[in-house]
Amino acid sequence: MRAAVLEAAQTPIVIDDLDIRGPRHGEVLVRIAACGVCHSDLSVVDGSFPAPMPIVLGHEAAGVVEAVGDDVASVVPGDKVVLTPLPACGQCYFCTRQQPTLCSVYSGSLFSNLLPDGTSPLSRRGEIVYRGLATAAWAERAIMPEAGVVKVDAEVPLEVACVLGCAVQTGVGAVLNTAQVEEGATVLVLGAGGIGIAVTQGARLAAAARVIVVDPVAERRDAALRFGATDVCDPNEDDPIAMALALTNGIGVDYSFEAAGQASLIEQGIMATRSGGTIVCVGAPPLEQGISIPMVVGFTASEKKLIGCLLGSVHAQRDIPRLLALWKAGRLDLEGMITQRLPLDQTEVALDSMRNREGIRTVLTVDA
Ligand SMILES: NC(=O)c1ccc[n+]([C@@H]2O[C@H](COP(=O)([O-])OP(=O)(O)OC[C@H]3O[C@@H](n4cnc5c(N)ncnc54)[C@H](O)[C@@H]3O)[C@@H](O)[C@H]2O)c1
Ligand SMILES: [Zn+2]
Ligand SMILES: [Zn+2]
Repeated sequence: MRAAVLEAAQTPIVIDDLDIRGPRHGEVLVRIAACGVCHSDLSVVDGSFPAPMPIVLGHEAAGVVEAVGDDVASVVPGDKVVLTPLPACGQCYFCTRQQPTLCSVYSGSLFSNLLPDGTSPLSRRGEIVYRGLATAAWAERAIMPEAGVVKVDAEVPLEVACVLGCAVQTGVGAVLNTAQVEEGATVLVLGAGGIGIAVTQGARLAAAARVIVVDPVAERRDAALRFGATDVCDPNEDDPIAMALALTNGIGVDYSFEAAGQASLIEQGIMATRSGGTIVCVGAPPLEQGISIPMVVGFTASEKKLIGCLLGSVHAQRDIPRLLALWKAGRLDLEGMITQRLPLDQTEVALDSMRNREGIRTVLTVDA
């Protein structure tokens, strides 16, 4: 099959022919229709996130089931599916405590870039090719565990539904699952790329009263207003902390979401959030970045909550149908998030758009 391959960090993506083995017990072979481009892919390409190479990236995908292994019951060949990089086994320590994104069977694949058994289904002339971010969907086909594919209705357009796989699961999930924002709350969103726009949509779904979105790019601030922001802030012109305080009678927002992938913005979020409020770390800053909390006793006394968020704390088998139902009801805009569609052999163009902060999400159409 054809796939977009990264040979080494900081080198251009190349299109090459790879081998993919068939589905084993409990696995599904998916013909990829479309796959979005996420900043987490770019972080591997640019070397911020170390990963073994060669690797196929792409983890925001939808496609059609081509073949299934033994004991696969939930899908059959021909079914349309959305892929999730974080399936849940349903039985481990974390799954049984309703924390499925931490599943001890599947979550390790996100960092090992291998299947749970430590192998990759991908190879090239007999040499291993890594399964990037537990999906490897910048390719014509992908092998997924059964729990990693969610069946969707036949009429769902896959080149639209793919953005559920990462951006929308993550952003909306951060609001509804991780933070559990309540009606009437005040929300600050730092960053308005694909993830921040999905957080903004999540805040609108939660009926937050005030949604302040910060991004240095004017086009993204304008987009945020269309997706539910009540106020926007250019951090090069105005101080986001001062603005958050000014818009909340000096109290601070109930919830802040870091969605840009810069550790310093978490500190900004802590300052902009009221006593007793919650700061959610959604962005994935480069490994070497950390945060500091000056005068910890102030943090202690203010009872603020600083929490991590992996893929919106989602349970994909529950949440992807729920998000699609909201899309069908006209309450979640997926089409509007997709500002560019490109063929697989223009993956490098798509990455440049993200580097230059153009548009919101690019979708690579593989077999749409
Ligand atoms: N937690 C998770 O499970 C998860 C899932 C997907 C992506 N991510 C991470 O989320 C982050 C965002 O991903 P994305 O695909 O939306 O990236 P993106 O590049 O599309 O968006 C990042 C946005 O941050 C903005 N920004 C830059 N400086 C800023 C500042 N000072 N204040 C406010 N905004 C600023 C940029 O202009 C851009 O619009 C990345 O770090 C990505 O790796 C995390
Ligand atoms: Zn992602
Ligand atoms: Zn589990």
